[in-house]
Amino acid sequence: MAIAQEFLEQLKDRNDVESVVSSYVNLKRAGRNLVGLCPFHNEKSPSMVVYNDTQSFYCFGCGAGGDVITFIKKIENLDYIEAVRLLAARAGLQMPEEGRDDRTARLKKRIYEINRETGRFYHAQLMSEQNKHALAYLTGRGLSVRTIRRFGLGYAPDSWDALTRHLRGKGYSDEELYAAAVVGRGRSGSVYDQFRGRVMFPIIDLRGNVIAFGGRVMQGSGPKYLNSPDTPVFKKSRNLFALNFAKQSAEPYLILAEGYMDVIALHQAGFTTAVATLGTALTSEQARLVSGYVSKVMIAYDSDEAGQKATRRAIGIFSDTGVEVKVLKIEGAKDPDEYIKSFGATRFKLLLEGSAGAVEFELARARSKVDASTEQGKVAFLRDAAAILSEIRNPIERDVYTAKLAEELSVSKEAIALSVQNILKKKVKDLKRKQSRELRLSVSGVDKLNPERAQHMRAAASEEKLIALLFKNPDYLDGLLEKMKPDDFVTAFNRGLFEKVCNLIQTGATPSLSLLAGVLTDEEMARLSAMLAGSEQMTFTKQQAFDYIDVIFEEKKKLTANDIANMDDGRLQDFIEDLRRKKK
Ligand code: GTP
Ligand code: MN
Repeated sequence: MAIAQEFLEQLKDRNDVESVVSSYVNLKRAGRNLVGLCPFHNEKSPSMVVYNDTQSFYCFGCGAGGDVITFIKKIENLDYIEAVRLLAARAGLQMPEEGRDDRTARLKKRIYEINRETGRFYHAQLMSEQNKHALAYLTGRGLSVRTIRRFGLGYAPDSWDALTRHLRGKGYSDEELYAAAVVGRGRSGSVYDQFRGRVMFPIIDLRGNVIAFGGRVMQGSGPKYLNSPDTPVFKKSRNLFALNFAKQSAEPYLILAEGYMDVIALHQAGFTTAVATLGTALTSEQARLVSGYVSKVMIAYDSDEAGQKATRRAIGIFSDTGVEVKVLKIEGAKDPDEYIKSFGATRFKLLLEGSAGAVEFELARARSKVDASTEQGKVAFLRDAAAILSEIRNPIERDVYTAKLAEELSVSKEAIALSVQNILKKKVKDLKRKQSRELRLSVSGVDKLNPERAQHMRAAASEEKLIALLFKNPDYLDGLLEKMKPDDFVTAFNRGLFEKVCNLIQTGATPSLSLLAGVLTDEEMARLSAMLAGSEQMTFTKQQAFDYIDVIFEEKKKLTANDIANMDDGRLQDFIEDLRRKKK
């Protein structure tokens, strides 16, 4: 749906990039710009820059970038229209006449209905006489029927089409079932039940919609757990199992476990703030989601090596959100589910109360790797400990741990503090290096968006400068167009982008990312933001613009025979015409 330009202008004016981004990310001023930790990938030192001049953001770490609309799309997992609607609401703007054909919205609605119906179907199957074995499996694992009902657990019968037939009978098309991912599709195009012979765990979002399923085999082959893939209503990376229940709890903390069964067992035992990720490692999006509800998280991962590793990762991810992390030491059992079975809820409560902080967890772990009674072990431990301390943001907290460590190992506090400082300094240097490398990389390397770039680096770089220049100096356009046409661009991707920017300026608009967010893909927006970021410090003279044009023409002359062979007729004629003109 196209949205009127005037409306987008207004939307953009009322949703300043700095204020929008800073409601999600803690931004710090850096010269004219702002920097912060990128919410789109996991990082410890900030690589995301917010540019007020161009009302854009760009992450030098992961390449995410765009305008406020792109930012909202990505961070709230919305499509374009939904993001515009959110920003309009934020600014108190009335949305213009909405398009009738909002097809995505309609499909999403159908998917929600399909999921709900599927959940009901699975639950009815679980409770039916012929599937007693499935119910027996769950009760055998200690779940009460009440718990089973509360979580809406189910059973997917061992059939290729039981669910498919049921849903077709309710009037859903195969296309819709496939979009909801409750069916798979064979080579011939025919659909089949995605989950077969598994006990089913519906995943429910914060509004109470069933958005996906996890299914566990009871015996036999196949992966132990099978989870729905991402669908238009489900993104694994930004949902948590049982958060719909946990958010109702008055407790100021969440318990983060690894598996569905852990969470359900915890809830049944009275720990109703337990949640789990959905068959994947914790993401920064999930951490941010959690930080919106609680100020503290108790990590209760499996006691095995993999669980401990995942714990360390999770600590790192949470450290950027301001959420305090505590770690439960699940000793004598594999996971919380088994712990409660073996030792009971009261003992688990004690575990919660005695949990160690994240720094203690890390220090204890580092200490356990060495023999701290030897000189060598002590040195090795101090080295690791300094690295751990360097991760602590709060200087007072850092000082407390430094003092504690110094006393414990009878080393001077100053010596420890010095090595921590050195690590911090190195980090800053690394970031600076990374930024300049990323900038260079973003103008080289393999490139899916602009595959011609690698062959025509010099031309492409000039093209990109011209595009960036038009954002700063739209008044140069007429002068530029006297010297060249968009067709003169060597790389098709940049040509398309340049044309769009030209069109925009010719309608009288000041070019801005927001006016392009509706016509460019997220990747294209990110690329454009990278171009703007790359020219951020530059002021362009008209002469520079002409120099860029000269470069493009020079490079165009060098087009290889191969390129010429691949041109379509129109372009080929232009090219020949061009050569002729140049000869005169
Ligand atoms: P139970 O064996 O039923 O007690 O489950 P568990 O939670 O103890 O299992 P485990 O620790 O092996 O796995 C923890 C979580 O990882 C599960 O809840 C799933 O979300 C996920 N998981 C486990 N096995 C698989 C698998 O084979 N495939 C996928 N995609 N996810 C899995
Ligand atoms: Mn388990």
